[in-house]
This record gives sequence, structure tokens and C-alpha cells, in this order.
Amino acid sequence: MTKNGMRLTGVRKSFGGLEVIHGIDLDIPEGAFVVFVGPSGCGKSTLLRMIAGLEEVTDGEIAIKGRDVTDLDPSERGIAMVFQSYALYPHMSVRDNLGFGLKMARVGASDIEARVKAASAILKIDHLLDRRPGQLSGGQRQRVAIGRAIVRKPDVFLFDEPLSNLDAELRVSMRIEIARLHRELGNTMIYVTHDQTEAMTLADKIVVLRDGRIEQVGSPREVYEDPANSFVAGFIGSPRMNMIEAEWAGNGLASTAGGAIRTDIREASLSSGDKVVVGMRPEHLTVVSERDDAIRVKVDFDEYLGGTRYLYCQSDDGQSLVAEYRDGPEIQRGDTIHLHCHPSRRRYFDTQGNRLR
Ligand SMILES: Nc1ncnc2c1ncn2[C@@H]1O[C@H](COP(=O)(O)OP(=O)(O)OP(=O)(O)O)[C@@H](O)[C@H]1O
Ligand SMILES: [Mg+2]
Repeated sequence: MTKNGMRLTGVRKSFGGLEVIHGIDLDIPEGAFVVFVGPSGCGKSTLLRMIAGLEEVTDGEIAIKGRDVTDLDPSERGIAMVFQSYALYPHMSVRDNLGFGLKMARVGASDIEARVKAASAILKIDHLLDRRPGQLSGGQRQRVAIGRAIVRKPDVFLFDEPLSNLDAELRVSMRIEIARLHRELGNTMIYVTHDQTEAMTLADKIVVLRDGRIEQVGSPREVYEDPANSFVAGFIGSPRMNMIEAEWAGNGLASTAGGAIRTDIREASLSSGDKVVVGMRPEHLTVVSERDDAIRVKVDFDEYLGGTRYLYCQSDDGQSLVAEYRDGPEIQRGDTIHLHCHPSRRRYFDTQGNRLR
């Protein structure tokens, strides 16, 4: 029971006759940093907009701090949303952009001034207050957009891909800023992103969505180490987890064309000849000399990234594998190598994608 946080119960959304959110149940504890991830079109923004009150809820209930807000106006929910497009007023100074929403809400001038001052200090934009948005960098504009949320003193901050317009370096520094902001303010924050690193580093809880349904909710470590199914396993982590098809030979043995893998699957439901999928992350594959339990592959090509290399390989039966390779003997395109994954690092799935344990 989350008395002070947020609770979504059976939340659905249809556009016209088409349902795109199919009954979401989610508890968000007070003060948590929750990140929504999932493929394009899975419903992240729609869900966030329903929480904000910008999109009507077709069915179900949204409660914030124990209060049913499902049918309340956005302004009555105690939330503030930051969008990907900063949507600043170009003809207004930063100061007026920050204070505008408060002025509209008839907050007194001295109160507005104090809040603008406090927010701009937190975001380190005090020296920019007299500029217009056109005279700011992308990162500075995004700070102003976040500042506009802060001055409203919301219970909950909602972010929809706030950093995706920024270049790589700025993204990193803004990401660290947002983490700091969360530590300082302690508010509940819900954050939508496509960026794996943002999700892993910012989140207390990651919500993995697919086609309007939740696939898994867990800490970054849980979704990475203990994925609920092959979708989550493949979605979290970059490059993706390798998924090798194998045949169940009984007695814990799964055989692939490139080798036989001894598993610790306790599942009784498998019979000889059933297909199983062995998941192995690129960073957990090591190059070994020929042995049982390793998969023989040919190196098709490789990517050199400085600190590390990715070897793109193919097994004898034509399955693709990517292995991360740091140090060791020189490996070249066309070489045959043997890849081994420690048993504790392997994850197993059936052909429907369900986890086998
Ligand atoms: N106003 C609308 N009318 C009709 N369909 C919509 C509307 N808004 C969104 N959709 C549909 O709802 C689904 C979810 O869209 P949504 O924008 O929430 O996805 P998303 O996860 O935010 O995607 P992205 O990562 O691309 O931003 C999509 O299939 C989209 O086409
Ligand atoms: Mg979106």
C-alpha cells in the first residue's frame, strides 16, 4: 500500500476504438525516481500524459497521495511536467518564463520572485535571468524548462525525454544534474527515456513497457540481472543480450550446433527435442580455447571502440553472437574462436520468451 506515493489501478486508454494502454497497475512510492522505458509507440508518453491530466483516462484510477485525481484538472494534481521541446516563450526573459505560470495562478509578486530566485540557484541559471531563450544554449534552455517546473513546487515531477534534444556531452551533464535535483528536492519523479544509460543511472525503479502493458518493474539491477522474460532481457543492455537457440537434450543439457551447454534449468516441463533459448550478454562472453560448454563461432567483423571491441560472430548453424573483447591475443575477421559464458551469467527462455529457471 502506498499511502503517500502514486497508484495506478487498471488504467486503460483508447484512441477512437483502439486501445493502446491495456490496464496498467503500478505503485510508485513517495520520493521514488521511476523511469518508463520501452520501444517507440509502446505508450510511455500516453501514460505520462494521463498521470499529468493532459490525456483523459478511458478506464481505471490514478491516485496521488491517496487522493483520486483521475478526473481532476492538471492544475489540481500537484504535478509539473517537463517536455522534450522546452516550449519557452521566446519573447520573454528567463525570469518571466520562470514566473509566468505562477503569475497566471495569481501568486503574489514577492512570492514569485523568491521562488524564481530559489529555483535558478538550484539550477545555476541565476546569471541568465535577464536573457531571452534565443540567447541560451540547449542545455541552458532545458534548465529553464526544469526551473519552470520547480517554481510550481509540485509533489510529482514528470519528464518526457527531457534530454533527447541535447548533444551527447550535454546529456551526460544534464543527467547528473537531474540526479542531483532528485537528491536535493526528494520529490517523486517519473521519467520517460529511450536512453539505456539514463534509465540505469537515474532510476530507483525501471518500468519496462511493451504494447501498452508492463513487462517488468524492478530496480536497474533486477531488470538487468533477473529479466522476467526474453523481451526485457533483450531490451535492457546494449549491445543486446545474445539469444541462442538450442535443443533440449534432457539431463540439463542444451545443444547448439556450436556446442553443448550444461544448464541448471530445473524445469520439469521440458522434453527432449524442445527448443530452448540461451541468453548470454556480450560482456559475459569470454574467448577460451576449444572445450565443451563453449560455442564455436567465426568472427564476421569487429568494431573497435578504444577501450573495448565488439566481435560480431556467427555459429556453425548461422546464429549471430556479439562478444565484448578487451584484452588477449589478436583476433581477426575470419578467425574461428570459442566463446564461453559462465553458467551463472546465462539466462534461459522458452520459445514464447518465458523465463526458464
Ligand atoms: N492522439 C492520439 N490519437 C491516436 N493514437 C495515438 C494518439 N497518441 C498516441 N497514439 C498512439 O498510442 C500509442 C502510444 O503512443 P505514445 O506516444 O504513448 O508512445 P511512446 O511510447 O511515447 O513512443 P515514443 O517512444 O515514440 O515517444 C501509439 O500507437 C500511438 O500511435
Ligand atoms: Mg513518447
